[in-house]
Amino acid sequence: MQNVDGDNRSGLERAAREAAGWSYAPYSRFPVGAAVQVPDGRVFSACNVENASLGLSICAERAAVFQAVAAGCREIATVVVYTPTARVVTPCGACLQVIAEFGPKAAIVCICDSADRIETTLEALLPAAFGARIPGKATD
Ligand code: THU
Repeated sequence: MQNVDGDNRSGLERAAREAAGWSYAPYSRFPVGAAVQVPDGRVFSACNVENASLGLSICAERAAVFQAVAAGCREIATVVVYTPTARVVTPCGACLQVIAEFGPKAAIVCICDSADRIETTLEALLPAAFGARIPGKATD
């Protein structure tokens, strides 16, 4: 975890790039780094971590969100995902659903090693997230 200014998008992007360097992806050879910013400015970053039992692998985005939650945060403002590729990738459906739990209004930024980039929102990528209409949802 590191602190960056409230609106320091480049710090957040740097954190995502750095996190990809710790990726453990011997099976897919597809490193991913993610950084999550919470409203008080703190940044939590993580990488994908694979397992020989492939289904136990976790994506970088979910690992980063869980770090934030484990530090007491219950709201996510921005998620940056970085892949060392020529074109950006967007978070998978499972990660979008997890982001929706804590950041229904979150900004999602996808960056890579070229100028290709996507700046969008959770709502645009997952407009009908499960749970949004459940009364008494934990984050209401
Ligand atoms: N992966 C992520 O970390 N984030 C995504 O949004 C998509 C996929 C990881 C999972 C796996 O370790 C590797 O990328 C290939 O799917």
